[in-house]
Amino acid sequence: MLIKEAKPFYFRHARYLQKQLKMGLPPVGLTFEDVLVLPKHSNIPSRKDDSLNLKSHIAGDVYTNLPIITANMDTITEWQMSQEIALLGGVGVIHRYLTSEEQARQVKIVKDKTRTFQDQPFSVHPDTTVRDMRNLKKKQKTGYFLVQDTDNNLLGIITDRDLDSTDDDSTQGHLIMTPSDRLITVPEGTTLEEAEKVMKIKRIQKVPVLSSEGRVVGVFTQKDAQIARKFPNASKDNKGKLIVGAAVGVKDIEAEVERTYKLVEAGVDFIIIDIAHGDSENMMKMLRRLAKDRNINVPIIAGNIATGEAAKVLIGEGADGLKVGIGPGWACDTRIVAGVGRAQISAIASVAAVAVSNKITVIADGGMRNPGDLVKALIAGADIGMFGGMFAGTLETPGKLITKGKKKFKRYDGMASNSARIRARNSHQIIQTSGIYEDRYSDTEVDAEQDAPEGREKEVPLRGPVREVVVYLEGGLRSGMSYINAHTISEIRKKGTFERITQAGANEQYGEVS
Ligand code: XMP
Repeated sequence: MLIKEAKPFYFRHARYLQKQLKMGLPPVGLTFEDVLVLPKHSNIPSRKDDSLNLKSHIAGDVYTNLPIITANMDTITEWQMSQEIALLGGVGVIHRYLTSEEQARQVKIVKDKTRTFQDQPFSVHPDTTVRDMRNLKKKQKTGYFLVQDTDNNLLGIITDRDLDSTDDDSTQGHLIMTPSDRLITVPEGTTLEEAEKVMKIKRIQKVPVLSSEGRVVGVFTQKDAQIARKFPNASKDNKGKLIVGAAVGVKDIEAEVERTYKLVEAGVDFIIIDIAHGDSENMMKMLRRLAKDRNINVPIIAGNIATGEAAKVLIGEGADGLKVGIGPGWACDTRIVAGVGRAQISAIASVAAVAVSNKITVIADGGMRNPGDLVKALIAGADIGMFGGMFAGTLETPGKLITKGKKKFKRYDGMASNSARIRARNSHQIIQTSGIYEDRYSDTEVDAEQDAPEGREKEVPLRGPVREVVVYLEGGLRSGMSYINAHTISEIRKKGTFERITQAGANEQYGEVS
C-alpha cells in the first residue's frame, strides 16, 4: 500500500493561517522562539559527514555554498563584507545608501578579487613606451603587461622588473620585454591547479594561456591559485569570480533603473529590489520594469513581504526570488511604531506555500539570533537566510571603531533609523568632497524630519572576524541537519517538523528551570 507523504510544514501552516483569516479570526502566528525542531531517526553519523551538502539557491541560476546572505544594510555589507562572506561560502548584498557609481565600484572590487584566469589580460603593443605603461599601471593596478600584436599573438611579457631596467621613459616595450620564445605558457584547457604546479616549478607568478593557434586567451596568476586553495568553499560564478548581490530602491524609478544598469555592468550576480513594504504599487512598477528589460540578465529578488497574496503578486510581475520579513529584525521598530508585521515562521511559511510550487526562491530575512533559527527558517520554507544583527560588530562591517575606555564598539543601525537616513543623504557629498568613505559613519546629528523612525540604532561590542560567525552558523546548521536526517538544504524543509513550546519549554531551553 502506498503511504501518502505528509505535506511539508509550510504548506499546512499556510493553509491554517488562511482558513482562520477567512473566518475572520486572528490566527496564531509563530516565530522562532515558539517552536522546536523534532529529532528524527538519522543515518548521518556526524555533523561533519561528507554526505551533507549545503549548496544553496539564491535565485535563477545563482547558488552559494552556504545558506547565508549578509543584509543590505549600511552598517553590515559593503565590499569588504561581501568579499569575505563570499570567500567563506555565503554571499553579501551591497546596500543602496550609496551613489550608484560607488555601489557599482564596490561590486567590481568583489568581482575582481579572484577568477579562474584573467580572460582579458592587460596587454600593450610592442611600441608602447615605458612612460605610457607606468601611467597604465597606476590606472589598472596591474603588475604585468602582455605584449601582443594586432592579431593577439603573444610577443612577450613586461613585469615591474623590466620597467625598472631603464631610466629612459621613452623606451619602447619590445626593447625591455621577455620575448615569447623564452616565455613559459600553458595551453587552453589547463586547470588552475595544473597551472599552479607549472608556476611553482618554474618559479613564476603568472602564466599566459595560449590557444592552439598561439593566440592569448588569458593569464593564470599565483594570487588566484592561492585564494582558490585557501578558500575551497568560496561562492563563485562560472568564471571563478566571487558571487555578489546589490540592492536597489523604487522611489525614482528611472534613477534606480540606471543604478541597476551600472550594477549589471560591474558584474553583479543578482539584484534585490528592497523596500520596507514590498506588496505595493511602487514595487510592482519597478519589478515589471526590471523583469522585462532585456539588458538586465540577472535574477531579480523582490521584498519584503509576509503573505501568500503578496507572493502571488510579485511572482506575477516576474520576481525570481522573494525576501520575507516585516519587522522581525534586531534593529527594526516597525512592529512597535506601525503595529504591523507577521511572526517570522508564519511569514516564511505563507510565502513558501506560493513560491515553492512556482520554483521561486524564498529568502528568510531577519530575526535569526542563533544558528538554530536558521534551521527553523529553512524548515519553515526558506531557501536561504539573510542576517544583519548576527554579523554586527564584526571586523569586516563598514564604519569606524568607537572606543569607550577599554571597550570597542561598532554601529548597527536600522536602515529606517535617523542615522542611516542621514548617511544616505550625505553619500554624494562625502564622496565628492573628502573621498574618505568612512567619514559617513562619524557621529551624525539627529534628523528632526523623520517623525517616527522605524529603525533602531545600536552600538555593538566589536566581535571577531566574520569567519567566526560563519563557523558558528554552519556548525549549528550541520548539527540540525544531522538530527533530522536531512542531507541537503532542500531536504530540510521536506523532513523537518516542529513542536510548539510553552513558556516553560522556552525557559528550559535557556537553562532557566530550577
Ligand atoms: P536581523 O535580525 O538579522 O535583521 O538584524 C536584518 C534585517 O532587518 C531589516 N531592517 C529593518 N527593518 N526597520 C525595519 O523595520 C529598519 O530600520 C531596518 N533596517 C533593517 C532588514 O530586512 C534586514 O535585512
